[in-house]
Amino acid sequence: MTGEKQPVRVAVLVSGGGTNLQALLDALDDSPARPARVSRVISNRTDAGALARARRAGIPTTVLHNSSDPNELLAALDDAELVVLAGYMKLVPPAVVARFRRRMINIHPALLPAFGGPGMYGQRVHAAVLASGVKESGATVHYVDDEFDRGPIIAQARVPVEPGDTPATLAARVLEAEHELLPKVVLDLARRLS
Ligand code: GRF
Repeated sequence: MTGEKQPVRVAVLVSGGGTNLQALLDALDDSPARPARVSRVISNRTDAGALARARRAGIPTTVLHNSSDPNELLAALDDAELVVLAGYMKLVPPAVVARFRRRMINIHPALLPAFGGPGMYGQRVHAAVLASGVKESGATVHYVDDEFDRGPIIAQARVPVEPGDTPATLAARVLEAEHELLPKVVLDLARRLS
């Protein structure tokens, strides 16, 4: 044993294109002390673009057969120390949430507690933000608990809502903020865990 610290093993759950996963991979690669590494990428969809990003980066992947089966997910999470939901569209079974309490985080594309909860995903979030007339939106990283988008908030990044915004233009602005916020929080948590 050299006594050197091993990077914290981070499992990332994805359903979509995986730009947040990519931001995380890039940031962890660039981080000199490397307090964390992505140890596995897990998806409920075989066609998630995020899986291709993981494979390109040489990271093992798992596609879940049944995302509501806690045992299947627990087996895939294996020796993960931190779990990141990065565009994961399924509810995590309570047994898995309990196993990773305060070690599982989610990123949501709005300033929670507003504009979260069941049905609030993708462009719907940004459409609701625009319909409400608020002047600011942003991204939230929070711990996962048994309800969608309800766990304790860890950090938020704010962006302005601009005149003439559409759900798509607002989504793009928020996504950029997500790509900065998520790696920052993961690195911070990893330093505290290691
Ligand atoms: C992000 O907006 C994230 O906040 C939400 O889903 C989107 C995922 O985008 N939960 P990507 O797959 O990381 O590109």
